[in-house]
Amino acid sequence: MKLLKFACIDSTNTYGKTNFDTLEDKTAIIADEQTHGKGRFNRVWVSKNCENIYLSLILKPQNITYIPNFTQYMSVAAAKVLGDYNVQPQIKWPNDVLINNKKICGILSEGIVKNNKLTGAVLGIGINLNCDAKTIENIDKPATSLNIETGNDINKEEFLQKLLKTFFENYENVVQNGFEYFKDDYLRYTDFLGKTVYIQPRDNDKREKYTAKTIDNQGNLIVTDAQNKEKIIYSGDLIY
Ligand code: BTN
Repeated sequence: MKLLKFACIDSTNTYGKTNFDTLEDKTAIIADEQTHGKGRFNRVWVSKNCENIYLSLILKPQNITYIPNFTQYMSVAAAKVLGDYNVQPQIKWPNDVLINNKKICGILSEGIVKNNKLTGAVLGIGINLNCDAKTIENIDKPATSLNIETGNDINKEEFLQKLLKTFFENYENVVQNGFEYFKDDYLRYTDFLGKTVYIQPRDNDKREKYTAKTIDNQGNLIVTDAQNKEKIIYSGDLIY
């Protein structure tokens, strides 16, 4: 696996997309700082030089069927590694990782389409490892960092190696079998099933109230509304 390291870059995802054709499958792009870190729904991902993880993987699987599940698989890999640091990670559907209900990790996958066909993805992940309290306070949603949760400085290189190892350990199985391969692991980190939740399809959209029932074998969220009518949620923000 190739590792490309940058001191400062606009966004590791943007670099991955721009250079997708020439980069080898499974290349890892990592930066100490991003000037234009991107989040889901065109949000900004705060990417100061705080010894955090800003990582993108170039993925060109033979079987493209399960590319949409890579973000959820990455959330499980991140939760497993975070769990080694004596904290209790939670996964908030579809793929945010939280500690004590505060976001510590965000994942953004960007599909690469050639001639109207999905050919691969740039899978980006940001994890707050060593942020100062001020940086965290300035984030507009509840957020945290591993050093704040544990009271210790975190060795970024060691964390990164563990994350890459954990992700690639079962990656080929996920390529062949999709969400079902890691569904049990995913469910182990969820704590919203059975609860009243709100779904916000996009920023500024109205929140809709449901009960979260289960996750189906494709990784979609199954909810029921006030009339007990079932609905499948394919994307959006979960609030609970
Ligand atoms: C989110 O929760 O909104 C997703 C955040 C994804 C951030 C990572 S940091 C590395 C990679 N490069 C980016 O510009 N974004 C992703």
